[in-house]
Order: sequence, then structure tokens, then C-alpha cells
Amino acid sequence: MQSDSIIDKIKKLEKHVLALEGTPTTRKMIQGKIQAYCENFIQNLKEGIAFNAIHEDACGFYDYPICENGYSLDEVLDLFDRSVDKPGLNAASGRHLAYVPGGGVPTAASGDYLAAITNKYAGVFFAGPGAVRIENQMIQFCANAIGYTGNYGGNLASGGSVANLIAIAAGRDAHKIKGANYHKTVIYGSKHMHHCVDKSIRITGLKECIYRDIPLDDKFRMDVGILSKQIKTDLSVGLAPFMVIASAGTTNCGVIDPVNEIANVCEKFKLWLHVDAAYGGLFCLLEEEKAKFKGIERADSIVVDPHKALFLPYGLGVALVKNVEHLLKSQFYEADYMQDAIENRNEISPAELSPELTKHFRGLRMWLPLQIHGVAPFKSAMREKLLLTKYYCDELRKINNIRIVNEPELSIFAYRYEDPSKSKKENNSINKRLVEEIHRDGKVFLSSTTIEGEVCLRIAILSFRTHLFEIDLAINEIKTKLEAMTINS
Ligand SMILES: Cc1ncc(COP(=O)(O)O)c(C=O)c1O
Repeated sequence: MQSDSIIDKIKKLEKHVLALEGTPTTRKMIQGKIQAYCENFIQNLKEGIAFNAIHEDACGFYDYPICENGYSLDEVLDLFDRSVDKPGLNAASGRHLAYVPGGGVPTAASGDYLAAITNKYAGVFFAGPGAVRIENQMIQFCANAIGYTGNYGGNLASGGSVANLIAIAAGRDAHKIKGANYHKTVIYGSKHMHHCVDKSIRITGLKECIYRDIPLDDKFRMDVGILSKQIKTDLSVGLAPFMVIASAGTTNCGVIDPVNEIANVCEKFKLWLHVDAAYGGLFCLLEEEKAKFKGIERADSIVVDPHKALFLPYGLGVALVKNVEHLLKSQFYEADYMQDAIENRNEISPAELSPELTKHFRGLRMWLPLQIHGVAPFKSAMREKLLLTKYYCDELRKINNIRIVNEPELSIFAYRYEDPSKSKKENNSINKRLVEEIHRDGKVFLSSTTIEGEVCLRIAILSFRTHLFEIDLAINEIKTKLEAMTINS
């Protein structure tokens, strides 16, 4: 029997590979079903729960191992519905009021779709000049919002954690911090700094430096007087102060460190000022909020997260550096096989400012919504969240034994049930139980934190889908659960 020629073999394989492209009919069918699923999902958000504590269904995948010939789309979508969509937190829900929500505007998903189908190479200008320009335009948008002008630069990263890592590495390299000097180099931060910053310090090797946890003032902001004194003390014993890490919108309480005063200190002692504004920074888009962030534009590096205050789906944080040269030096690369791309440099490319080379064209998920809607509805959503926060706080004050732990500055704050006749430990248990009870039926999703040994609830109102209805629901949940707990205790 005559065996297949090489041409026959190639043609046979080619025919099989065509399945990956599909036909206009199969693509239409797949997109139609996915779109119908998404539409149904969006339409059910208002009435649906925010949290499903039952996790058993999340194991459905084990019955569908990856196989040679796949499954039907109906089966796969059903599996997704049961095993991914339903269990856990519904982060798209306006009832998600914990951690830092955003919601995920649908037009950003259309941007992702466009990016994936065209698969434009957004890492290097030579390959995707338009894609790179879009990414740079989004960086410019964020930089201008916080007040950077001149020779700034930045990178669209996957989120706040990676953006912080890029910025802190830039600070390390700008100050030429070498391993041999780590033992006398000092970094200053504070307790309410996000934990990803500590991770960045570790990943950049800076954990071997001396770290000073600067105490907070009575408003949970970094105490600048203590910071200044500590720097002087460190200098007097021959140490080398290097970086101050401030927060503009802390995760615990949503408060903004006194950035301008901190910038004065950094300027005086020639320290790198990094501001983690992942949560709060984009509120600078609101003219009337800018004063709260006074001095932020003096920072050497800043992080803002469009997947928080710009309501995009998860996957976009921005590292900004006041002087782009610092970022270019920190992320510098050379590679023979990239020579065509480097020689054709016309505009700075993301790959020159980030650890990534090939990357998702994530600028499009921000650009498309901004192009289609304009900035105005985003600003309205931010303003609405700030007012909802004030309203929630006012309503909480009407509930017996609820103490507002910090006055809201933006759209996150902490509060706590506190029965004066009970000990701190007993009140802590009540607050823990309150959160557990709220999670049990999942009507709204709130989270807890511990501040100075006190278990508190915190609310983060930042989903574009959170409106008065959802906030009234949250208030009602707190009242109902507290009443039930009092009855049952
Ligand atoms: C202030 C702050 N910084 C950094 C981060 C980390 O950002 P991401 O979760 O996007 O990595 C968060 C997340 O909530 C945050 O609130």
C-alpha cells in the first residue's frame, strides 16, 4: 500500500486545523451563544446575589478533563455557569461592596474582544504603532489626571500589584541602590499601606533594607512629623534614607496620606516618593476632589488602577513615573533578535518600560469605553459613589451601637458594632459574626478588617453598578442581621 506523500499529510492536517478558525456560520453561532449568555448575566445582576458561599459546584471541571476532541459549546457554557459564574463572589454585581470593586463596564469587554481578534502587537512600536500610541494615550490620560506634565512615562500593567512593582524597581534603580548597601538603606511606609507594596519590596530584593513603619495619625494617615524625625535620626547614625511610600486612598479606610507634606520631606532629604494611588488616584479626574490629593504630582512614581475607579474589568493598573528616563533605565533591554524593532523606534514602547515583551493589548479595554462614552459618565459614576458613601455613613449613624471608625474621605471607610457594655473581645466576635451572617445569604458582599486590634466592617463603594438600591439593601442587611443576632444571643 502506498503511504501518503508529505503533501497529502500537510493537506490533511490543514483541514483539521481549519476548525480553529471556524466558518462565518460557526463563529456566528459561538458568538451568538456567548453574547446571549452575557446578556442574560447582565440582566440578572440587579436581582441576583453578590456572594455564594457554596463552593462544591466549583469542582465541576473535574468531570470535563481537557480531551482530544472537545465538548459542545452548550455543555461548556453550562459548566461555566455552574462552576465559575455561580460559586463565590459576583464581582460584576453592584452589590459587591468589599475589597475594591469596579464592576467591569461592558464596552471594555468589547475592547478586549477587538484586541484578541486583531491580536495587535502592543509591546513594540515597530509592530503596532497605532496600538502603542493608544497605550501611550491612556498613560497620558492618567498622568494628566493626577497632574503630571513634562517628561513623565508609564506602563499599563495587569493591575496595581504589578504596577507598584514596576514603580518601586524604578525608584531602586534611579537611586542606584546596590546589594552591598542594602543593610544601611532605609524605606519608610505605614501600616495601612497595601500588602502588595511589601511584596514589591521583597521581589525587588529590597527586603534586606531597613524598613520603618511610620505610625498613623488619628485619621489613619501617615504621621509626617514622625516621618521627618525618623529620617533625621537615621541620617544621624549613618543610615541612608531612600524611599517613602505613601498611599492616596488606603485599602482599609480609604484615606489619603498628606502627600504634599510628605513630598516636602522627600524633597528636603532627596528621597524617592512613591504614592500608591491604585484605589484613590483617579478621583483626581473630579475637579472638586483634587485638593485632597494636593502634591501628588510631586511624587516620583504613582500607581493608579483603572480597574478600580474607572470601573474596568480586572486587568488594568498603571505605573507612572515623573521622569520617564528612570523607567527606561530600570527596564532597559538589549537583544540581537529585536534589532529591527529597536532601530525603528519612533515613540517609546511598552516593552521598554515594563518587564513584559509580548503582552495583552490592554490599552484597548480602556480606550474603547472612553471613546464611546466620553469621560463624563465615568465622572458622574465617581460622584455618585462619593455621595452614596456619605449617605451610607449617615444611615449607619442611625443604627444603635454602630461606631464610624473613620470619617469617609473617598468611598471606603471602616465602621464597627460596639456595645459599650461588652469587652473589646466580645465586640470583635459580634463583628466577625455579623460579616459571616451577611456572607451566608450573600444578598450584599461586605468585608471586614482589623484596625488597632478591633474587628471592623468596611465598605468600598466603587462599582459603577452600585446605586441607591444596593446601598439601602446593605443598610437593611446590617439592621436585620444585628436584630437577629441580638434575638439569638
Ligand atoms: C491601595 C491599593 N494598592 C494596590 C492594590 C493592589 O492592586 P491589584 O489588586 O490591582 O493588584 C490594591 C488592591 O485593592 C489597593 O487597594
